Amino acid sequence: MRVVVFISGRGSNLKALLEQQNNYTVVHVISNREQAAGLQIAQDFGVPTTVIPWKNREQAENQALKQLNDINPDLIVLAGFMRVLSEDFVTKFPFKIINIHPSLLPLYPGLNTHQRALNDKQKQHGATVHYVNQHLDQGHSISQCHIDITDEDSAETLATRLLSKEHKLLSTTVDKIATGQIYRHNNQLYYQNQVITQPIVWSNI
Ligand code: GRF
Repeated sequence: MRVVVFISGRGSNLKALLEQQNNYTVVHVISNREQAAGLQIAQDFGVPTTVIPWKNREQAENQALKQLNDINPDLIVLAGFMRVLSEDFVTKFPFKIINIHPSLLPLYPGLNTHQRALNDKQKQHGATVHYVNQHLDQGHSISQCHIDITDEDSAETLATRLLSKEHKLLSTTVDKIATGQIYRHNNQLYYQNQVITQPIVWSNI
């Protein structure tokens, strides 16, 4: 399975994906920021990169579309990509774009998820991998991981503790899509040939 990854910054999720390539290959990385540290990670792994400044969304998406038409990937992974894709763009790739989001969706779509979980005195927090549709962070959830919140936690400690789990969650989910263990059929999500109605939770993540 050929995967294109969209990034905006650090690229630690991209690195996790690159390190777990057995059943899929990251064939290209697109960044909206030239300074994104993840670009160097891609280059270290020999993966071609393209920077598309996202000043004008329509122009940027057209450029990305041209690139994607040439590459023809099986899956597009948004890994810390901090731009919202238009309805026009996402509907061209139904159930072919996934995103990693640092909250237990449907809780806390959007930004500042760790602080919002703390403000609400949640006992648990986590991350979700979901399909991307035209509504921000509202596409069908695929998988989740959880962490407990303690009284000592800050937004920073939550972000740090969650990040290593995010890495495993994203690379495992992409691997299971690549091996055909996760798929959609007739509007339903299947995992190992069973229809699932709740996000997948793996006991080791
Ligand atoms: C991750 O926490 C991801 O969930 C969020 O942005 C962060 C990206 O980190 N969407 P990185 O660039 O993968 O290191």
